[in-house]
Amino acid sequence: MKKRDKNSQLEMLEGAKSMGVRAATSVSAGAAVGIGNVLSSSIHSVVQNSSLAKQSFGYAILGFALTKAIALFAPIMAFLISSVFRSKDWSDPSQQPNYRAHGPWKPSAEANQRIARISAHLHPSNVQMEESSILGRTNCRAKGGAPGFKVAILGAAGGIGQPLAMLMKMNPLVSVLHLYDVVNAPGVTADISHMDTGAVVRGFLGQPQLESALAGMDLVIIPAGVPRKPGMTRDDLFNINAGIVKTLCEGIAKCCPNAIVNLISNPVNSTVPIAAEVFKKAGTYDPKRLLGVTMLDVVRANTFVAEVLGLDPREVDVPVVGGHSGVTILPLLSQVKPPCSFTPEETEYLTKRIQDGGTEVVQAKAGAGSATLSMAYAAVKFADTCLRGLRGDAGIVECAFVASQVTELPFFASKVRLGRTGAEEVYQLGPMNEYERVGLEKAKNELAESIQKGISFIKK
Ligand code: NAD
Ligand code: LMR
Repeated sequence: MKKRDKNSQLEMLEGAKSMGVRAATSVSAGAAVGIGNVLSSSIHSVVQNSSLAKQSFGYAILGFALTKAIALFAPIMAFLISSVFRSKDWSDPSQQPNYRAHGPWKPSAEANQRIARISAHLHPSNVQMEESSILGRTNCRAKGGAPGFKVAILGAAGGIGQPLAMLMKMNPLVSVLHLYDVVNAPGVTADISHMDTGAVVRGFLGQPQLESALAGMDLVIIPAGVPRKPGMTRDDLFNINAGIVKTLCEGIAKCCPNAIVNLISNPVNSTVPIAAEVFKKAGTYDPKRLLGVTMLDVVRANTFVAEVLGLDPREVDVPVVGGHSGVTILPLLSQVKPPCSFTPEETEYLTKRIQDGGTEVVQAKAGAGSATLSMAYAAVKFADTCLRGLRGDAGIVECAFVASQVTELPFFASKVRLGRTGAEEVYQLGPMNEYERVGLEKAKNELAESIQKGISFIKK
């Protein structure tokens, strides 16, 4: 009897287990939601415990019944809720919560202006929007009391582009900042636009919005393109970046032919000649307005020389001439200000470190790109000198890679004076020592090839 009792108890347990498992399976499979998981785990714990065997049959039935109930009532509840929502027309103002208290809502002129201001960065400007928007281009502070220039950054969502956009938003000389990229421009624009500085920020995404991004710009900064990875030269970027720069410069020729262009995309020694050829083809080329950005070489040179001399880098001025790649980067250490002298070892160390500065960062980043933060800093420093030149400030001199007659090459980096029309004067290289003269010959050999490669890319 006892044995039979035990057997029947075991049979009951097995039966309950199998029903419980079936119920649990049907709950999990049918519901696949939190409630289903909770039910299935409680049923499972009951069937595991033999002392609860007698209760388990009851629990299994309870679980089974609950499952069926959920399965039956869920669609009915869903139908009832959705019909309540469908019955309200939310676009009808009379059905909106505040209608009865205040009547139909009419935006005041002030509210309209605020809405336009808030949404300016979300809806990239185009001619139509400019005409209809309350915050049209003509109403912007760009043309208002606060003097300011209109600046576009092409490639604004990239490693350089983002910090560059942030720093340009902080520049008091900028009143309108256009951020263009083929990816993520709205996100970067929304983010930057919350900064409480004077410039109005607008975002532009993808080729169809390029022309709107460029229309009316005073200065266009181009960091668009792929960066190096370890083991690559800047010239390895040519195949991709040449096409990107060509397309962007065609847009500039069409929409803002008088803008100053700061070209950052590598290889600068070739991309500047590419841009020049595009502008020539379009009939808009003004050599004074096209500047290859070599400022990072100067920034590095000032820093490394200051380290060796034990000075504040802000007190140091090192001219860096030639181009922007390997041996074409030629620091003129004999012309450092304040005047100083270096041992041959120091000269060799500093020259090499300045020439390899970009590679030092590429290797340290180990595949995650090249210099971005120091480049954004250098780009803003250079853009600021261009804007101050445009404003008419006197004595603005920086190094840049420009159309030049300083050597026999058509382009060369040297000190230039920036004025209202761009690079108004290109300075001679000045007295050089023997070490620098040897360096100059090496630089010219490599530069000649890179320049020709850029020219041929457009002329082919
Ligand atoms: P990145 O890849 O982080 O950013 C490049 C950005 O360009 C990306 O957001 C990308 O979407 C955008 N882009 C690509 N194609 C585009 C197009 N057709 N139109 C608009 N945007 C486009 O690269 P990064 O680190 O910012 O470097 C950008 C370039 O600057 C590289 O070529 C790099 O070698 C060069 N660079 C130059 C200097 C210099 O001293 N001149 C210094 C550092 C880097
Ligand atoms: C630099 O000098 O940091 C840039 O030209 C990027 C690179 O590829 O080195």
